[in-house]
Amino acid sequence: MTSNTPSNEDPSKLSNQTGEKSSIPAPVLRENPEPTSSNAPIPLALTSIFFVIIFIAGIYLALNSGGFRSDVFSPKLVSWSGGGAGGVAAPVDPKVVGKRIFTQNCVVCHQTSGLGMPGQFPPLVGSEWVVGGDWVADNHLVSILLHGMQGAVQVKGVTYNNAMPPWKQLKDDQIAAVLTYIRSEWGNAAAPISPEYVKSMRDKTTARTEPWSQKELKAMPAESAGTSAAPAAPAPAAAKTTPSA
Ligand code: HEC
Repeated sequence: MTSNTPSNEDPSKLSNQTGEKSSIPAPVLRENPEPTSSNAPIPLALTSIFFVIIFIAGIYLALNSGGFRSDVFSPKLVSWSGGGAGGVAAPVDPKVVGKRIFTQNCVVCHQTSGLGMPGQFPPLVGSEWVVGGDWVADNHLVSILLHGMQGAVQVKGVTYNNAMPPWKQLKDDQIAAVLTYIRSEWGNAAAPISPEYVKSMRDKTTARTEPWSQKELKAMPAESAGTSAAPAAPAPAAAKTTPSA
C-alpha cells in the first residue's frame, strides 16, 4: 500500500532528465507530454489559410468594388434610353447620374451654377457649344469632352484662351449622362446624348491625342447625335427564347 508504482518506475528517475534515458520504461516514453499553456506560435497552416482568404477577398473587392466610386451603377440594371424595351429595372434618370458626375469633375472650373469664371472658365449656361450653335453641333461637344479643348475659343461672344483636360477616362454612359445633364440644366434645353453616340465618336477619334482647338473643331462637319441612335434599345434583344426541344 505504501507504493503502488512498480519498482522499476522510480519517480525520481523520471524527473531526472539528465540521467540515463534507458532507465525510463517504454510505456512512459510513449506518453504525450502534459499540455501546458504557453505562447505557442499560431500554426503555419492556419496563418496560410488566413492569408489565402484575405487574398481572395482582395481579388473580389478589386473586381467588384467599382473603384469605390459613388457614381457606379450596374449597367445591366439600367435602361438608359427611357423605359420600355427589355428594361430589367426602373430606368435611372441620366440627369441624376449626370449631375453627380458634373459635381465630381466639372464644378471646380465651370461652377455649380454652370456660369464658369470670367476670363478663365467659359460658361455652359446658354453656351452654343453645349446646346448647339450656327456651326457647333453634337459631334463637336462630344469631341471636346473626349479629348479636351485648348487655345482661343469664343463662348457667347466672349473669347477664352485656356485649356480643358480630356475626359476620355469617363465611360460612354458617364459622358452621355453629364452631357445630358448640362444640356438640360440651368434653362438649357437640348436633346439628350446617348452612350451609343459617345461610343461612335470615341471610335471615330481614337487617333486623337491632343485637346482640340476651335479651328480644328470648325473644320469638322457638323453632325447631330440624332434621335435615331437614342431610342434603339441597346439591351440584348429580350431574352425570351422558348425552349426549342
Ligand atoms: C480644369 C478646369 C476644367 C474642368 C475640370 C472642366 N472644364 Fe470644361 N472647359 C474648361 C476650359 C478652360 C474651357 C475652354 C477651353 C479653351 O479655352 O480652349 C472649357 C470648355 C468647355 C466646353 C466648351 C465651351 C463652353 O463653355 O461651352 C464645354 C462644353 C465643357 N468645357 C464642359 C465640361 C464638362 C462637362 C466638364 C466635366 C466633365 C468640364 N468641362 C470640366 C475648363 C474645365
